[in-house]
Amino acid sequence: MESSKVKRFGILTSGGDAPGLNAAIRAVCRTASIQYGMQAVAIHNGYRGLVEGDMEELAPSSLVGLLTEGGTILGTSRDKPFKNPVPDAESGLLPIEAIKENYKKWNLDALVCLGGNGTNTTACLLSHEGLNVIGLPKTIDNDIVCTDMTFGFHTALDVATDAIDRIHTTAHSHSRIMVIEVMGHKAGWLGLYSGIAGGGDVILIPEIPYDINSVAKKVMERRDAGKNFSIIVVAEGAKSKEEALLDKKAFKKARAEMPYSIAYRVAHELEQATSLESRVTVLGYLQRGGTPSSYDRILATQFGTAAAHFLAEGDFGKLVALQNGKITGVPLDMIAGKVKNIPANHLMIETARELGTCLGD
Ligand code: F6P
Repeated sequence: MESSKVKRFGILTSGGDAPGLNAAIRAVCRTASIQYGMQAVAIHNGYRGLVEGDMEELAPSSLVGLLTEGGTILGTSRDKPFKNPVPDAESGLLPIEAIKENYKKWNLDALVCLGGNGTNTTACLLSHEGLNVIGLPKTIDNDIVCTDMTFGFHTALDVATDAIDRIHTTAHSHSRIMVIEVMGHKAGWLGLYSGIAGGGDVILIPEIPYDINSVAKKVMERRDAGKNFSIIVVAEGAKSKEEALLDKKAFKKARAEMPYSIAYRVAHELEQATSLESRVTVLGYLQRGGTPSSYDRILATQFGTAAAHFLAEGDFGKLVALQNGKITGVPLDMIAGKVKNIPANHLMIETARELGTCLGD
């Protein structure tokens, strides 16, 4: 057994779930136990469990069969203990005070927080409060800066691509415009990659505000060339050129007031502009559920084993990241509060344009 700075650590998953979370939990806890004799403490339902003290020691038997399982055995929530904190009605403690108490009460030497941008921003704030924290990059959105990839993305990409393939055949049969909405509020990685993998004719992503007339023009060009159907892949956060002029708050409000998701609006506008029949498919939570792809299992396992070594070495305040094929640690301060958007000159944007794919601009 190797020596370790950490004897007991808490582990939690927070934010939207993603395929590979259980594989990562398994890798952290197994490596920490086998290599260093550490004890893992399961924290239930994200930061909520840390505030409420909803925790239990994790027995090795809980890790059996986890590699292939979707979801998270720890449960999750979107609770953010630093956002609008209010004292607890009974104890009078602020969330951060309750967290510190529970950290002490459970004899934790460190925390491992698995999640996306919100989770790792909270992890960063906890480390500023003096807690020993390590973050892992999980999200189907692939929008965490300083890591080439997040786990969950690859599986969601496979699901979305398979769906686009299936919609292709029915689009062809019925000569329809098919609008497929994929996840991605702030970043369009999933839309761009699944759109290219599935041969989308149009791909609309948040990074490139669209003009519906450009999209309609593309559809009509296809029809004039004898192609009787069109596949339009739309990220849920795609916005029109007019919407792109709104500030963040106004845009959020406008979207909250919109009684349908963006794909419905795009389909309606296209029907009006082209007089062609259109249909909508919103892929929704199918993209997040189910068994992880082999790539995500491997990536989550690599991140998890690295996290155990970081714990043993006392290398805290870091996000475990993938950079140029290597697993490394990035200070949480460098990623907190940021979103990794697709740069305008990204290779895949250029690839899409070279293929003649319309990106809405
Ligand atoms: O954060 C990942 C994500 O899957 C986004 O792509 C999506 O917009 C969001 O979660 C949906 O989250 P919720 O589970 O809160 O509906």
